[in-house]
Amino acid sequence: MDRIAITGGARLEGEIPISGAKNSAIKLMAASLLTDEPLRLTNMPRLADTRFLGKLLQRLGAEVIEADGADGPETVLTTREIVSGFAPYDLVRQMRASFNVLGPLLARSGQAKVSLPGGCTIGARPVDLHLQALEALGARIDLHEGYVYAQAPRGLKGAEIEFPFVSVGATEHTLLAAVLADGETVVRNAACEPEIDDLADCLNKMGARVTGAGTSEIRIQGVSRLSGATHAVLPDRIETGTYALAAAMAGGEVRLTRTRSDFIQALLDKMVEAGVDITPHNDGVTIKRNGARLNAVEVETDPYPGFATDLQAQFMALMTLADGESVIRETIFENRFMHAPELRRLGADITVQGGEARVRGVDALEGAQVMATDLRASVSLVIAGLAARGETVVNRVYHLDRGFERLEEKLGACGAQVRRLKGDGEAEED
Ligand code: UD1
Repeated sequence: MDRIAITGGARLEGEIPISGAKNSAIKLMAASLLTDEPLRLTNMPRLADTRFLGKLLQRLGAEVIEADGADGPETVLTTREIVSGFAPYDLVRQMRASFNVLGPLLARSGQAKVSLPGGCTIGARPVDLHLQALEALGARIDLHEGYVYAQAPRGLKGAEIEFPFVSVGATEHTLLAAVLADGETVVRNAACEPEIDDLADCLNKMGARVTGAGTSEIRIQGVSRLSGATHAVLPDRIETGTYALAAAMAGGEVRLTRTRSDFIQALLDKMVEAGVDITPHNDGVTIKRNGARLNAVEVETDPYPGFATDLQAQFMALMTLADGESVIRETIFENRFMHAPELRRLGADITVQGGEARVRGVDALEGAQVMATDLRASVSLVIAGLAARGETVVNRVYHLDRGFERLEEKLGACGAQVRRLKGDGEAEED
């Protein structure tokens, strides 16, 4: 199992190009199941999660070709026919978003058998809203032995769906099914994340008729077939925010390019409040911090455009060295403070009670061995390591590889001392 070693103390100076968004890419890849023509996705991130989903899609009948296009990495997915509607437990367990193949399989071929994803380290993460939406669209859903058996032999029908609370995955899943339904679907209390807009944009290029994506009410006029298309994956706002926080933590000046600062406005507002210099530009944002200690600020995670839960762990890392006490409230997932005990191993002063963490800034962190527990938590430990004295070694880096492309290279190009220690053969647990 690989580990990442960080020697703290280096200021960061330079430029970091941001990759395409993982959370968008995997839904766009699933959309390729909706057509028998090629879907060409450009600005594709090359990550463990996208590779993994590519393998599942191949089993279902897709041809997946990766190439280096003129504008960076691209993937062409062509599913001439669905050869299997079965997504087994082993595959869905390893990556929850695999569950999103259910809707497209059902919409294109009228049936699917997809494993329920189960819980994960950050919370129970049920999929009840996904299933209710598919049922509202006319699917017959049966649950047996951990599998969803879904059928719609005469196709899906447009419906009015109002979610009781905002869910990114359920909103996307509804889109992925309703585009081929008969008639109009209206989704109320839809999630507004940029990745939903990106998915709708791509589906519309494929011939779908989706309006209102990016707002809380989405309308989908079903069409009988979709065609191929070319679509550039939008920039990864979580990677953008993560490197913004890394630069603020280490100090120095870093220009983040090929991205959009408006996607992380809630984070940037908090960083300004803490005392970081932020300069947005056409192609991204520049982050600057000169030595002075940052102020502790309060943060609450919320659905977009609120402060992203996927940046909460990284922000907590920044607050460990701030002046004063920062209160961080997590409102999206019930168990998303697994990084707190690991940050404490580096000397941070954090107490957690329910959905609230109190971080009292300390004068310095000290390098130690720490354990990555999930994707975003693992990168918060890297951020902390950038400012800790001595060496920090982050174990279980495979979490990080799921969502961050060439992290050592990108940080290293700005002067960070980050290196990968190749696996020692120790068995992985999950
Ligand atoms: C997506 C992102 C994830 C991000 C999250 C919130 C992907 C692959 N993942 O996850 O990185 O942290 O949005 O921005 O895009 N819920 C239910 N029932 C459901 C669905 C969700 O109770 O059927 C709950 C969840 O347990 C959670 C909350 O709703 O507490 C929000 O989850 P959701 O927005 O669906 O997150 P994901 O789509 O899983």
